[in-house]
Amino acid sequence: MKSTFIALGLAALIEQSYAFPAIAEEAVRIAAANAPEQKRQLVSPGFNAGLQYVSNKGAHKFVAPSKTDLRGPCPGLNAMANHNYIPHNGVATIDQFIKGTNYVFGMGLDLATFLATYGAVIDGDLTSWSIGGPPPASLTNGLGLLSQPQGISGSHNKYESDASPTRGDLYEYGNDYLLQMSQFKDLYNLQKGKTDAQSNYNLPLLTDFRAYRFQQSINDNPYFFNGPFTGVAVQPAAYTFIYRFMANHSAEYPEGRLSKSVLKSFFSITGPDNALKYVSRFALLVSS
Ligand code: HEM
Ligand SMILES: *[C@@H]1O[C@H](CO)[C@@H](O)[C@H](O)[C@H]1NC(C)=O
Repeated sequence: MKSTFIALGLAALIEQSYAFPAIAEEAVRIAAANAPEQKRQLVSPGFNAGLQYVSNKGAHKFVAPSKTDLRGPCPGLNAMANHNYIPHNGVATIDQFIKGTNYVFGMGLDLATFLATYGAVIDGDLTSWSIGGPPPASLTNGLGLLSQPQGISGSHNKYESDASPTRGDLYEYGNDYLLQMSQFKDLYNLQKGKTDAQSNYNLPLLTDFRAYRFQQSINDNPYFFNGPFTGVAVQPAAYTFIYRFMANHSAEYPEGRLSKSVLKSFFSITGPDNALKYVSRFALLVSS
C-alpha cells in the first residue's frame, strides 16, 4: 500500500520534471554538449567581475565540517555548507537551497526550485532536507511523515544515481557519497601533461568521460540501474555541472575555464599529479 502510494507520487514528479522548463533547458544543453563541435552553440553569459564575485573570506571562509555536520554526494552543496552559504550542519530549507545555489553558482531559479523541492519531497521532511545522510530528529520538522527523511545520500535511484562522475555505485562500493580515487584519476588524467594554466575540463571532455563511466558501470556493476529520473536528468546534469558551475569565469574566459587546481579543490583532493590524496570530509578519513 505504502509503496504503491510512493510509486504514484514519484511517477507524478517525474512527469512534472519533463514539463518543467528548466529541465527541458538542461536537456537541450546536454544535447548541445553531445553534438559535434561545429554545431555546438553556447550562449556566452558575459563576464562582470563585480557582479560575479563570490566571497570565500570572512563569514564565508572555508570551515571543515565537524563530525556531526552532514555532507554527501554533491560537491556543490558540500562546498556551500563548508563556506556557510547554507547552514554548516548540512540541513537547509527549500528557500535556502534556492537562494544559495542562485547566489553562489548562478543556478537558474527555476532549476534550483525544482531540485530543492524535489529534495524536500523525496529525501526530506517536505520543507527541508539533508545534503548527506539522515538528519537528527532535532533538525527536522516532525510533520509526521511516512518514513524518516533519508537525505540525498540515502536516496539511491530516487535522487542519487549509478555512473556518477567520482562517486562509486552504491552496490559496488557500499556507499554512494565517497569519492573513488580511480574514478577521479580517470577524469583528472584527461588533461595529463598539461600545466594548470593550460588545463580545462570543458563540456566535450566531460561528455566523453560520461560515456566512459556509463560503460564502466554496465561492465562492473551487476546491479547497474539507469533510472527514469536519476539516470536521465540527474546523472547527466552532474557531469555538465562540473564545468558549468565549477569553472572560473574571467574576462579571458567568460564561459569559464576549469583548471586542475580548481577541480581538485572542489573534490577535496590535494597533492601533486603523481601523489593525489583524497581528504574525505565525512569521517575525516584520509585515503589515497
Ligand atoms: C538544490 C540544488 C542541488 C541538488 C538538489 C543537488 C543534488 C545532487 C545529487 C542528488 C547528486 C548525486 C547524483 C549522483 O548520484 O550522481 C549530486 C551530484 C553532483 N552535484 Fe549536485 N545538487 C544541487 C546543486 C549542485 C550545484 C550548485 C553544483 C555545482 C558544482 C552541483 C554539482 C554536482 C556534481 C558535480 C555532482 C556529481 C558528483 C560526483 O559524482 O562526482 N550540484 N547533486
Ligand atoms: C580565476 O581566474 C583569474 C583570471 O585569470 C585568476 O586571476 C584567478 O587566480 C583564478 N582563480 C583561481 C581560483 O584559479
